[in-house]
Amino acid sequence: MKPGNLKEEILRLKAGRDAIILAHNYQREEIQLLADFIGDSLELARKSSKARGGLIVFCGVDFMAETAAILNPGRTVVVPDPAARCPMAAQLPVELVRKAKREHPDAAVVLYVNTLAEARAEADVTCTSANAPQIVNALDEEKILFGPDKNLAWFVQQRSDKRIIPLPDNGYCYVHRMFSPADIMLLKERYPDAEVLVHPECDPEVQNLATHICSTSQMLVRAKASPAKRFIIATEVGLVKRMRREFPGKEFIPALESALCEQMKKHDLEKLYLALRDVEHVVCVPPEVATKARAATERMLEISGRAAHD
Ligand code: 13P
Ligand code: SF4
Repeated sequence: MKPGNLKEEILRLKAGRDAIILAHNYQREEIQLLADFIGDSLELARKSSKARGGLIVFCGVDFMAETAAILNPGRTVVVPDPAARCPMAAQLPVELVRKAKREHPDAAVVLYVNTLAEARAEADVTCTSANAPQIVNALDEEKILFGPDKNLAWFVQQRSDKRIIPLPDNGYCYVHRMFSPADIMLLKERYPDAEVLVHPECDPEVQNLATHICSTSQMLVRAKASPAKRFIIATEVGLVKRMRREFPGKEFIPALESALCEQMKKHDLEKLYLALRDVEHVVCVPPEVATKARAATERMLEISGRAAHD
C-alpha cells in the first residue's frame, strides 16, 4: 500500500476501533504525525492511565507498552512490532532484584520504568528520567536499591543525601553511552551561545557538560521556555525531529547524528496498520505481576502528581 493510503487506512481503522495511538518521542516522524499523543515515559504512563476507548496502540518499546497494559487491566494494548524491546530493561532480571532485597532488607527498591514488568513487580515505587530524584527523596528509607541505569543512579545520587545502590552494577543504555565529552566540548566551542540539553542516561562526564539535564519531554519544555536560539541535544535523534517541527524558529544540533535507538525505530506505518487491522501483538502481563507492578507505578504517579501541585 502507498504511504498516503496507509495513513488514510490507519485513521479509518483507528476511528472504527475507537483506538488511541500513543507514541514515544523517539518514534519515526511518520508515526509521531499520526499519533494522538507523543511524550516521554512519564507522560505516556500518565496518558495511558487516563486512556478511554477500546484499544491502545502503543508505539514505543516493551517496558512502555507494559506500563500501559499494567495501568489498563480491562483494555487491550497492542504494539506494531513486538521486537521493539529495550536492551537496558532486559539487564535487570527479577532474580537480581530479589537477591538484592534479601541482602539489603532495610532498603527501598526504586526501579526506572525502563524495567520489565516482572522485575518491576518487586519495586516499592518506579520512576522515570523526569522524576527520579523527586521520587527517591520522597521516600522514608535512607538506603535505595536503584536500577537498572547506572548513569541515572549517579544523577540521582548528586541530588540526594540517601545511599543509592545501583542494580545491576553497570546497567546502561547503548544509545546514550555513545555520547562523548570530547564531541560535546567541540560543539560547545563551535556554538558558544547554545544551551546543552543532556539526558540523564548519558555518562556522568557528559552530564557534567550540560546546561540542563532533562527527560526527553523536559527538553521540549526547556527549548520552548528558554531565551536561547540554539540547543545541542544529547539524546536519541528522534527527539530532534520533533523539536525542529515544533520550534521552527530555533536551531537544534544533535550531539551525535548516529545516536539512534534501533528498537524504537522497529515500528513503521505498515506494522501500525496491521496491528490496528488484526488487533495483533497484544501486550500480556500476567495478572499477579500486573497487580504488583501497578502498585509501584501508581505510587510514582501519585508522588510526582503530588509534587507537581505542591
Ligand atoms: P524519557 O522518559 O526521557 O523519554 O526516556 C525514555 C528512554 O527510553 C530514554 O532512552
Ligand atoms: Fe532503551 Fe536506550 Fe532505546 Fe531508551 S534509547 S529505549 S533506554 S535502548
